[in-house]
Amino acid sequence: MKHPTDMNPATSSTVLSAQGLVKRFGGITATDNVSLDLKKGARHALIGPNGAGKTTLINLLTGVLEPSAGRIILEGQDITDLAPHQRVKRGMVRTFQINQLFDTLTPLETLALTVSQHQGLGAKWWQALGGSKAVTQRCEQLLEQFHLTAVMNQKTNVLAYGKRRLLEIAIALACEPRVLLLDEPVAGVPAGEREELLQTVAALPADVSVLLIEHDMDLVFSFANRMTVLVNGTVLTEGDPDQIANDPQVKAVYLGHGEEEVQFSDEPPQGELVPSGGSAAHAVASVGAMSHA
Ligand SMILES: Nc1ncnc2c1ncn2[C@@H]1O[C@H](COP(=O)(O)OP(=O)(O)O)[C@@H](O)[C@H]1O
Ligand SMILES: [Mg+2]
Repeated sequence: MKHPTDMNPATSSTVLSAQGLVKRFGGITATDNVSLDLKKGARHALIGPNGAGKTTLINLLTGVLEPSAGRIILEGQDITDLAPHQRVKRGMVRTFQINQLFDTLTPLETLALTVSQHQGLGAKWWQALGGSKAVTQRCEQLLEQFHLTAVMNQKTNVLAYGKRRLLEIAIALACEPRVLLLDEPVAGVPAGEREELLQTVAALPADVSVLLIEHDMDLVFSFANRMTVLVNGTVLTEGDPDQIANDPQVKAVYLGHGEEEVQFSDEPPQGELVPSGGSAAHAVASVGAMSHA
C-alpha cells in the first residue's frame, strides 16, 4: 500500500488553504481566525472536542456557509465566493449522506449516475449504463475499490450501514476530486463493519489530498500524517501525529473533557504511520485511559 509517509510538509505544495477564516453566529464565534494548509497528497486530520468548530470549518471550506472574514484558496485560486457546486467542479468534494433519491437506487445505478454526470454525459443512469463503455468501466472500478460489487444490484436502502458509508465515499470519488473532505466516515458504523471501511479509507488514491474529521482515534492515528487540533474555534496546534500525541496542551484539552465523544482506544492503534514502540499510540491511549479513569 502506498502512503505518503515521507511527505515533507515544508516543501510539498499547498492544495487548499484556509486563511484567517472567521465565522460568527450572532454572539458566538464558531471559527476564530483559522488558517490551515492542506498539502498535496496529505492525509490531514482535523480533531477537537465537541463544539470546537470542525463542522463549521468544513461548511466554510465547501461553501455551505459564508465566512465573516478570511479567504479560501484552492490550487492557487480564490474560491471564497464560489457556490458549493462550483467548488466541486474545481476538484474539492465532500462525502455527503445518501439522500432519498439515491436510497431507492442500487450502488451501480447511483455510481453510473454520478460518473456519467461527471463525464458530462447527462444524468440518466440507464442511458449511461447501456451507452458508455467509459462509464461502465469506471463504475466497475469504483464498485471493486469500495467492496460494493457483491451488493451492486441491491437497493441502497437495504444495504448494511458500513456499505452505505462505503458508497458515500465512492460517490465522492466518482467526482474525481483532487481534494476530498471526509466527515466522520466511521461514525455509527458497527464494529464488525469497521475494518473494511478503515482499509478502504487507507487505500484511497495517494494523489488525492484528504482532510478527515474524525473522533475515532484509531482511525485518526492510523490514517493521518498531519493533524490540526481545533479548540473553541481556534487552532490549538498543528503537527505530525507523534507531536500531537505528546503535546501537553492537547493532552490537557482531552483530560479536561473526560466525557467527550472523542474515543481513545485501550489498544494501541494499528497503522504504519504510528511509530512502532508506540510513542504516539501509547501516549494517546494512556491519555484516554486516564481521562476515563
Ligand atoms: N448555525 C449555527 N448557529 C449558531 N451557532 C452555531 C451554528 N453552527 C454551529 N454553531 C456553534 O458554533 C460552535 C462550533 O460548532 P461546530 O462547528 O458544530 O463544532 P464541532 O463540529 O467541532 O462539534 C458551537 O458553539 C455551536 O453551537
Ligand atoms: Mg461537528
